[in-house]
Amino acid sequence: MKEIIRNKKIWDLPLRLFHISLIFLVIGSISSAKLNMLDLHQYFGVALLGLVFFRIIWGFFGTYYSRFKSFNLSIIDALSQFSKTNTITSIRTPIGCYSTLIFIIVLLSISISGLFSSDDILYDAPLSFLTPNHISDWTYLHNILHYILYILIGTHISAILYYQIVKKIKIIERILDGYSRIEKMNIVSINEKPLIGILILFILTILPVLILLYFN
Ligand code: HEM
Ligand code: HEM
Repeated sequence: MKEIIRNKKIWDLPLRLFHISLIFLVIGSISSAKLNMLDLHQYFGVALLGLVFFRIIWGFFGTYYSRFKSFNLSIIDALSQFSKTNTITSIRTPIGCYSTLIFIIVLLSISISGLFSSDDILYDAPLSFLTPNHISDWTYLHNILHYILYILIGTHISAILYYQIVKKIKIIERILDGYSRIEKMNIVSINEKPLIGILILFILTILPVLILLYFN
């Protein structure tokens, strides 16, 4: 019998733009820091901070699957997620939800700690003058956090590839075009009005860059 694939819209456009922008800004932040281009690094960093703020706002005002309210945080579901008898049928898996929240917390902490850091030679971050006695603590925290981010990204990409290749769910296509491509009864089809989301995303990402440019 021919399989019926229900193609319902699940990821709104602002959330998908958030994901692409996030990848771009994380790569930009890490490579500019490793190349010792800290003047450029700070712009990637503050743009990323604004982008994370967008994700938090979108967690309250976005469409169904973007909202924190739709997150499944059941520990029991999380523990059974990778077992063969797993019966979770929702789009939002518990481990996926936990990982989104952990990403938000780590990215927020890494960007905020960066604002108070210094390389002790040529570059002092824009807010380092506020806590002059703790600059080395902030810098230490900033440096530790980026290793945690590497672990998170590594785990994230492995989990995505597991779903894509082993479980044969077209999860990557989903985050690119927003459509579910799966036969499940309990999928909520979203009705998005993307313009306001794109506008908030754009303003929150660009504004910190403009403020920094103005004060530099
Ligand atoms: C909010 C804006 C940010 C500012 C002002 C900032 C500032 C700094 C400073 C001053 C350093 C040099 C620390 C040292 O010499 O030990 C640094 C290093 C670094 N930052 Fe940031 N940062 C920001 C955001 C970010 C973000 C968002 C990321 C990652 C996504 C990041 C990743 C790194 C990395 C990988 C290093 C190099 C650490 C090392 O290997 O020594 N930063 N940053
Ligand atoms: C810098 C690297 C990356 C970071 C920081 C990152 C972060 C995230 C975050 C925070 C989410 C949750 C979206 C939300 O609800 O807000 C997410 C979802 C997702 N990411 Fe990434 N991502 C990265 C790279 C990638 C790459 C390279 C791929 C593709 C191979 C990918 C595929 C996905 C997919 C398919 C989802 C949706 C998962 C689901 O259906 O629950 N990500 N990512």
